[in-house]
Amino acid sequence: MDFLGANGDGIDSWQEVTLVYNAALKQVQTKMEILNDEFQHVHQYNPIEHIKARIKTPESIVKKLKRRGYESTIENMVKYINDIAGIRIICSFTSDIYRIAEMIRDQKDIHVVSVKDYITYPKASGYKSYHMIVMVPVYLSDRIVDTKVEIQIRTVAMDFWASLEHKIHYKFEGDAPEHIKAELIECAHMVADLDARMLSLNEEILELAKEHSEK
Ligand code: GTP
Ligand code: MG
Repeated sequence: MDFLGANGDGIDSWQEVTLVYNAALKQVQTKMEILNDEFQHVHQYNPIEHIKARIKTPESIVKKLKRRGYESTIENMVKYINDIAGIRIICSFTSDIYRIAEMIRDQKDIHVVSVKDYITYPKASGYKSYHMIVMVPVYLSDRIVDTKVEIQIRTVAMDFWASLEHKIHYKFEGDAPEHIKAELIECAHMVADLDARMLSLNEEILELAKEHSEK
């Protein structure tokens, strides 16, 4: 098995790297869609609301390498940047997040490199999400290249908070006034409360539906 860029395995152009990361992204996306379809079939319910996939732009790869003190080489980007290929899975309820993470872990050809559980341990900003860095094999004509993909799993409510907070963060170039930061943390608590209420409401509805069908 080759590791992209790790041993001079001939990946020498930006186009070739992009092709491999795109392939890895497509594979993970398809796997998630299959799991969602199967879940729908078995449980009459789909845990995934929607999926967003993106490849990091060359500009932000170069910026991130520079920020971390690395030269802009293909080898460095493959080695040090974990989120060149990124996929975001937006689901309905907090319980779906762990269910999806478990299903990813159970896939034989996905190797989980690391996990950050910002749901159990939210960031100081108030950010909540479940992050996994995984390796997937990409089958090229003459070799298999193991490729890193960042998977972020969060609820619709968490995603709503994160995308607005991201915009505000950018507006203030990461240095928002204290009262705005405090307000954002307060909003994160409201979002967490909303998620908890929606989850318990859903559990109640499922229970009622079960009783109804048993009658
Ligand atoms: P990055 O260098 O930013 O990728 O962070 P990292 O390598 O330390 O990883 P981490 O898991 O902390 O963050 C990865 C990604 O999560 C970021 O690129 C963002 O997309 C998202 N993220 C992390 N923290 C925050 C936050 O406070 N607010 C928002 N909106 N997004 C965040
Ligand atoms: Mg990132």
